[in-house]
Amino acid sequence: MSAAATPSVKASPLPAATLARFAKEVAKYPADQKQSAVMACLAIVQQEEGFVSRAAEDVIAAHLGMPAIAVYEVTTFYNMYNQRKLGQFKLNVCTNLPCQLRDGQTALEHLCHKLGVEEGGTTADGLFTVQKSECLGACADSPVMLVNDRQMLSFMSPERLDELVDVLRANAAKA
Ligand code: FES
Repeated sequence: MSAAATPSVKASPLPAATLARFAKEVAKYPADQKQSAVMACLAIVQQEEGFVSRAAEDVIAAHLGMPAIAVYEVTTFYNMYNQRKLGQFKLNVCTNLPCQLRDGQTALEHLCHKLGVEEGGTTADGLFTVQKSECLGACADSPVMLVNDRQMLSFMSPERLDELVDVLRANAAKA
């Protein structure tokens, strides 16, 4: 094998400890199905770096023996993977049709207005990123949102959104 054909894993921009974590995930699958570890590897990168860079996708692709574009497709399909550095609090508001019919867009616009950002933007203090999201599976509870990919919140009226921002700000100040 020529030097040019050496797998890019050798020149990895990711730490060895991260690659070791990849290996543990890959070991959970049959050798011919290691691509099944792609979501776990993306989650590891996001946990460690805060987002998934194209360079990290390339490393994952090399590890799993899959095209980089296939990794990119996974990263961009799921809202939980960040493709850039976001604020401390990632606020995803569902704007799919059922939520649109019950103030989902109003909730998104209220948050953007309150925080002084465009949709997808991050506040200057780095605390909040406001984004729209696809269906969160709780359409009857609209407006629905997800905080940091973990905490689902329902019936988010303007008043509840204001309260949420205040609570998160207070928590950040205490930390
Ligand atoms: S459309 Fe918003 S939760 Fe389903």
